[in-house]
Amino acid sequence: MKEYALAKTQNVQKANELLEYLQKRPKTEMVGLGLIYGEPGLGKSRFARQAAIQNDYIYFRLEATMTAKSFTGRLLERIYYHFGMPKIGVRGTANEIFHRSLEILKNFENTIIVIDEIDYAFKNKKILGSIRDIVDETLSIVVLVGMADAKEKLLSADVHYFDRCNFFCEFKSLQTDDLILLCDAVCDINVDKTVIRHIAKKTKGNIRKFIKSLYSLESLAEKQNIQMIKPEHIAIMQ
Ligand SMILES: Nc1ncnc2c1ncn2[C@@H]1O[C@H](COP(=O)(O)OP(=O)(O)OP(=O)(O)O)[C@@H](O)[C@H]1O
Ligand SMILES: [Mg+2]
Repeated sequence: MKEYALAKTQNVQKANELLEYLQKRPKTEMVGLGLIYGEPGLGKSRFARQAAIQNDYIYFRLEATMTAKSFTGRLLERIYYHFGMPKIGVRGTANEIFHRSLEILKNFENTIIVIDEIDYAFKNKKILGSIRDIVDETLSIVVLVGMADAKEKLLSADVHYFDRCNFFCEFKSLQTDDLILLCDAVCDINVDKTVIRHIAKKTKGNIRKFIKSLYSLESLAEKQNIQMIKPEHIAIMQ
């Protein structure tokens, strides 16, 4: 199974449109802020990480224990790493560290930063405020990635600001066509469409369970030297 493949599902296509829209926005009129949100396991983080690797975006994941100070430090480290700069000056007050990040981002226009697990910032207004400062004071594009209720939470955290969020993209349940694309992208062997539908029905739209079942089938097929999993194999394998 290919761990780093990214299938071009409907969700992925919509998220790519979000980025394209933000990149083409009239920069003097609009800030570069977007939000991807949705139920668990729909591929939000997968998109965020893989799109960042493929397109040279900065991927940054918030953590449950992050404080405003650790946020600024980790962000500056990520920025140094991204631009291949020596790791200097990750010391000082949170404000001093944050200003170093801002200065670099001002010099590198149109940097794209994807911030995953934005939900952790809803409890920490300083982190949310710093993200707001990045989009206000630089021409960077910031794409936030969060849970299903992230849109409401973002708006209620600071309605005057976050109603300026210029693109909201909800990740929706994957349909059969998406699951076929997913199998093509991640499986090392071929899987018949009827088998894909069968697993999809059994796992009831839960993508993590779907991938797990697929992985088990794939391992068994490899052991039995089967190149394409067909409906008749399922009974043999179970
Ligand atoms: N477009 C895709 N290409 C390849 N694999 C995908 C894709 N979308 C989802 N997956 C699979 O689904 C799993 C769950 O996706 P992911 O962890 O990105 O979900 P999430 O939306 O971030 O969930 P959560 O809200 O719980 O963080 C991934 O590990 C991957 O196996
Ligand atoms: Mg995630």
